[in-house]
Amino acid sequence: MTATPDPRKQFVRQVLNQAQTLGLSQPAEGEADAPVNIALCKYWGKRDPVLNLPVNSSLSISLPGFGTTTRLLWRPDSDVTGLQRLTLNGTPISPEDPVFQRLAAFLALFPAADQGRFDIDTHNQVPTAAGLASSASGFAALVKVMNQAFGWELSQEKCSLLARLGSGSASRSLYDGFAIWHQGLRADGLDSYATALPQVWPSLCVGLVEVDTSQKSIGSTAGMQQTVSDCDLYQAWPKQAQKALSTLQLALETQDFATLGKTAEHNALSMHATMIATWPPILYWQPQSVAAMQTVWQLRADGVGVYFTMDAGPNLKLLFEEQDRPAVEQAFGNLTILRPFARA
Ligand code: DP6
Repeated sequence: MTATPDPRKQFVRQVLNQAQTLGLSQPAEGEADAPVNIALCKYWGKRDPVLNLPVNSSLSISLPGFGTTTRLLWRPDSDVTGLQRLTLNGTPISPEDPVFQRLAAFLALFPAADQGRFDIDTHNQVPTAAGLASSASGFAALVKVMNQAFGWELSQEKCSLLARLGSGSASRSLYDGFAIWHQGLRADGLDSYATALPQVWPSLCVGLVEVDTSQKSIGSTAGMQQTVSDCDLYQAWPKQAQKALSTLQLALETQDFATLGKTAEHNALSMHATMIATWPPILYWQPQSVAAMQTVWQLRADGVGVYFTMDAGPNLKLLFEEQDRPAVEQAFGNLTILRPFARA
């Protein structure tokens, strides 16, 4: 009886165009980095959980200078294959650790994993505040370093396709600045990747409000699956996201900050509404999350242009412009502030 081929392995082979992966005989090594990103229009729900295909397109802003740097060494002259050693910020990770297993499973999709051993050192420069997701920058950096070390010469779009298989939001971490992950229509997933948007916004600030950075009770992968299958309100989500995406694109083109902020905040709250309306309910908020939302709303009532977004966790990410920074800092006190276009 022949085993059914793994659709993810097939997908990787299609993207790599097989010829580029044959005959690996020399050791390969390299280093690459990728930024974390924050979605202004969220990815929430998969239409295909195996190929990581989303229900809706999403739009993000990357935070250059914050993310993951990954060093890779691959050796063919070894009796063992696949991921053998993983260090995270200098500490070895045990093969029993879910982080090791997730990475090993991802690498196993690539022909090189059958032909040699991988040793990987990864460093996260992700601020501890606000629990920024390092899986997005992690998978993006890993694909970038493989592209470089194995000389695949894949375009950023193709790297985005591969990073998507590791974690959906990683598809957007190939780029600095704003990016759109296009949901795509094809069943084979070859049209579901992110592209960069040309707009820059030099005065844009992102403030990280730390409420709680401990491990969440339910991760985003399980959270979105549960919402898709058990929430009646979820039906309204794709339409909300589609509208938010078009409005955000227009706001970027016209550099209309109030529309950008309002749309991002509304989109995040709509996503959380679907989680809350799931049974059993998923509520990531803590009392301090709600208190921070109320501070944002009070600031706005006082004329300060500040908005928030939230991912699958209790922490807030504030969006404001440089001119409003003093008022926001005063209201929130100890705030980590990042400038996505500081170098633009
Ligand atoms: C709420 O990309 O972490 O942050 O594809 O299952 O790995 P998987 O999920 P992941 O989900 C991110 C969800 C989000 C919204 C977003 O970043 O768009």
